[in-house]
Amino acid sequence: MSDLDLPRLLPESLVRLLAYSPPEGGYPVRLDANECPYPPDPVILEEIRTALEDMPLHRYPDPASRDLRGAFASEFGCLAENIMAGNGSDELIGLLLWTLRGNQDKGPPVIVVPTPTFAMYSVAAQAAGYEVHEVPLGPGLAPDMEAMLQAVREKQPNIVFLSNPNNPTGTFYSKDQIHSLLDASSGLVVVDEAYGDFSGEESWISESASFSNLAVLRTLSKVGAAAIRCGFLVAGRDLLEEVNKVRFPFNLSRHTQIAGEVFLRNYQRVLSQVAATVTQRERLAMELERAGLKVFPSRGNFFLVQCDGREEALWRFLQDGGIVVKFLPRLPVAGDALRITVGAPEENDLLINRLKDYFTEGGTDA
Ligand SMILES: Cc1ncc(COP(=O)(O)O)c(C=O)c1O
Repeated sequence: MSDLDLPRLLPESLVRLLAYSPPEGGYPVRLDANECPYPPDPVILEEIRTALEDMPLHRYPDPASRDLRGAFASEFGCLAENIMAGNGSDELIGLLLWTLRGNQDKGPPVIVVPTPTFAMYSVAAQAAGYEVHEVPLGPGLAPDMEAMLQAVREKQPNIVFLSNPNNPTGTFYSKDQIHSLLDASSGLVVVDEAYGDFSGEESWISESASFSNLAVLRTLSKVGAAAIRCGFLVAGRDLLEEVNKVRFPFNLSRHTQIAGEVFLRNYQRVLSQVAATVTQRERLAMELERAGLKVFPSRGNFFLVQCDGREEALWRFLQDGGIVVKFLPRLPVAGDALRITVGAPEENDLLINRLKDYFTEGGTDA
């Protein structure tokens, strides 16, 4: 019997990576994953319950997720043939990387990303053998477009990933900024609109028909349906045909297809929860500042905040009080920071009160 020779089998790029490990459950207030704090509207829940009743569990689901894509197309005003559904947008990020990795004899494929940004772009890219070229955000965490454009011209990346709004900073890229990247890039520019509904701006979906090098990502995870794992890629047909070759046929369970379709057919209800979060966001920004934190302006459902070098201590203090936020140590440009998801009003009250306790108690070590 031989032992598994992992050192021989694993690529070096994978050995360096760490698996995602969120804190365990058991905390009453979770403000660390940018989820929607409200349970789904009762109408949505009832429709899902009814639809699930007659489900043929012994049959595979539709491999092309046709009804789900149809519902997305009607809600977002695009063609179903320009949409691929994924098991969360994470899966679609992975599929794009896998598809567009080029020919390795020409050197490793490259992604360009601003930094800090959503960590999975870089993790998934490294795991797939990419070189990751990071462009630091500018002062105040504003996009540094000169540096982004220079990186695109010099590195000729296979893919540029832009989270818009950007997780974890809340930074927003304007139309002109994204147009300039599309003009400069012969690789794919992915505009990831995971938090698009919170931005109050028009989606890039309507533009995807005009640019063959633009792909838009969307997810239901941040607007109330994180549990079902349902994301969408909107892109040109030529690209989707290639991505379809590497997509496993039954990537979305029937449960996900049904629940996702119901969410999309009731998107106005979803958007009213988004509006409630946006209202809470404005209130929370004021309260966090009043409590003594530095708050970066955000177009998402979260805030990046700082606390004069006491971020880790504050994170522990909040956690000891049952409130989980995300601690982001040594972020490029920003340094240590916390990312706080906007919660329901009662959760935000608990957070603010706990913050006030922290500063009243002297606010040093937890
Ligand atoms: C910018 C961004 N894109 C994609 C995702 C992944 O979303 P999903 O749950 O659809 O895989 C996240 C999740 O945090 C995110 O922040």
